[in-house]
Amino acid sequence: MALLKWPSWPNYGDEEEEAVLRVIRSGQLFAAGDKSGLFPAGEVSQFENEFSEYLGVKHSLGVGNATEGLHLVLAALGIGIGHEVIVTPYTHISTASSILMQNAVPIFADCERETLALCSKSIEKNITEHTRAISVVSVFGYPANMNEIVRIAEKYDLDLIEDASHAHGGIFEGKRIGTFGRVAVFSLHQAKAISSGDGGVISTNDSELATKIYRLRSFGDAELSYNYRMTEFSAALARVGLTKLDSQNDIRISNAEQLATILSNSGQILVRKPIENSKGVYHSVLMELTDCAKINLDELIEKANARGLPLKRTWAPLHRHAHFNPIEAPARGLPWCNPLYSGLYKDLSGYRTLKLPVIENMCDHRLLELLVNPPVGSIEIDQAGKIILDILGE
Ligand SMILES: Cc1ncc(COP(=O)(O)O)c(C=O)c1O
Repeated sequence: MALLKWPSWPNYGDEEEEAVLRVIRSGQLFAAGDKSGLFPAGEVSQFENEFSEYLGVKHSLGVGNATEGLHLVLAALGIGIGHEVIVTPYTHISTASSILMQNAVPIFADCERETLALCSKSIEKNITEHTRAISVVSVFGYPANMNEIVRIAEKYDLDLIEDASHAHGGIFEGKRIGTFGRVAVFSLHQAKAISSGDGGVISTNDSELATKIYRLRSFGDAELSYNYRMTEFSAALARVGLTKLDSQNDIRISNAEQLATILSNSGQILVRKPIENSKGVYHSVLMELTDCAKINLDELIEKANARGLPLKRTWAPLHRHAHFNPIEAPARGLPWCNPLYSGLYKDLSGYRTLKLPVIENMCDHRLLELLVNPPVGSIEIDQAGKIILDILGE
């Protein structure tokens, strides 16, 4: 049988080429700031305005990547030594490692079975006098249950940070992902739905916070500041990506729905659906092996890959990662041991003994992902569905 050829992402074309040339011709490749306001003219400031309009927020600030954005946000919120941030263990490393970069302590709570995002009950159990913020991710473009998380953040007066790196264009109950918290960060990395090589954008309605982020971003504050600027190239590409976002999300959604239909009669696997009243944007389609599956994850992946279908496991939960084992791989500054910190993880054993049964079970035994970015379309999805059913013997 011929090997399936799965189309890759991104697909830059004439518009992207023109955007990059426009920057070169302008002679201004980095976003130069001035004292009066945010970056004047240029691609970065235009992208910021366009992204704010799309999201319906007051301020957007371009950064070099989302990792820088997450760090900048924590710094601007004044989160540091002695503080805890409750964060999902089911995410990319930088959602949590950025907390260590500020010498604060990440506290991993369990996830909700339905959304795979932070579970509000588990968040609440982990709140202490040291807690300053909650960092939530709408993973793989499946919206988190934002009502519940916002309720907890408000109840305990905590800052809510949305890492919306997978959810450009996602909606929960009529409101865009990235507009629920005090501040949100989006990745514009090459693999993301707005693909700019490396890039990121921070969005907020809080003008004071935006000003602080603006100053910290480019050596403009009395406090320790950074060079976390977005380049003009990256912004020029992101501007093109933004114009295509909704139509490309429609293709991802249609691909996911088609695969769900094909697999709907399987007794062994299902395509995960976004929570009710939400629009998921499928950074990846997540599939789940059911209790009756006669095959394990690795066997299914191996057999699918051998036929050219790029199924893969998703993340391993972060509380098992070496960065969060302070004895094996101590983070610089050892925030757990600082005399100003007296919280849950003071004895350094916290992450090793932590049990997060929902997300551990899902990651270890059930979840796999498939990228369905355009130009993947109905022909490829049909082939993918057939290969999966064939491997499952259905
Ligand atoms: C959920 C999430 N947050 C943050 C990041 C970091 O993004 P960047 O590569 O732009 O730093 C990623 C990257 O994959 C991610 O998936």
